[in-house]
Amino acid sequence: MNRHLLGPGDYAAFQKYLQGVCGIVLGNGKEYLVTSRLSGLMRTNGIASVGELLKQVVAGRNQKLQVSVIDAMTTNETFWFRDMPHFQLLTDLIFPEIESKPGRAMRIWSAACSSGQESYNISMTVQKYLSTNPGRLSGGVEILGTDISNRILEEAKKGVYCGLSASRGLAAEQRDRYFIPRDDCLEVRPEIRRRVSFRNQNRVYAETCG
Ligand SMILES: C[S@@+](CC[C@H](N)C(=O)[O-])C[C@H]1O[C@@H](n2cnc3c(N)ncnc32)[C@H](O)[C@@H]1O
Repeated sequence: MNRHLLGPGDYAAFQKYLQGVCGIVLGNGKEYLVTSRLSGLMRTNGIASVGELLKQVVAGRNQKLQVSVIDAMTTNETFWFRDMPHFQLLTDLIFPEIESKPGRAMRIWSAACSSGQESYNISMTVQKYLSTNPGRLSGGVEILGTDISNRILEEAKKGVYCGLSASRGLAAEQRDRYFIPRDDCLEVRPEIRRRVSFRNQNRVYAETCG
């Protein structure tokens, strides 16, 4: 661990700052996490300690630095169909309920969407529902994915997944139905993408890192 990056009191001040700015709760004893995630950024910006970094971001003079700190501190764990019961609930309860209000557009918010798997999975669930219930959800479905991290949102917008992020949680049948193979990667099909948009939004909620 790079101890000199964290002066006395720096960790507590950083915990307070991060929770205040985006709701991320850093537990006690996670100094290693802060130093490992921020050391590259500090080196690039010629900043010697977390205290100094904090001074610059709190003063609000360097918005780019603030965005980079948040990007570095978010934990973007996600995979395909991560919370299966939620998608099942859409098919079993929510879509049939909306059908009883014909012509009304359905708008779904995928808050803290990370690299987009959850948002695209909602669209895939819609697609499957429509294949067995043609003509339903006649008002259309719009899915908005939001996250605080610009870095991860860029990945979500691309809709191209490689390596582990292409395979984790995905069955072969889902891969063939919803993706176009691109070299060693998978691209989300246009009919799935067209319902989904992404934008940056700070939801300020509690997340435990690490
Ligand atoms: C563990 S991922 C969850 C991804 C997805 N919802 C899933 O369940 O697979 C948590 C995401 O929350 C985002 N996040 C953390 N604090 C946030 C905030 N205040 N506003 C918006 N997004 C935030 C992180 O950038 C990260 O991508």
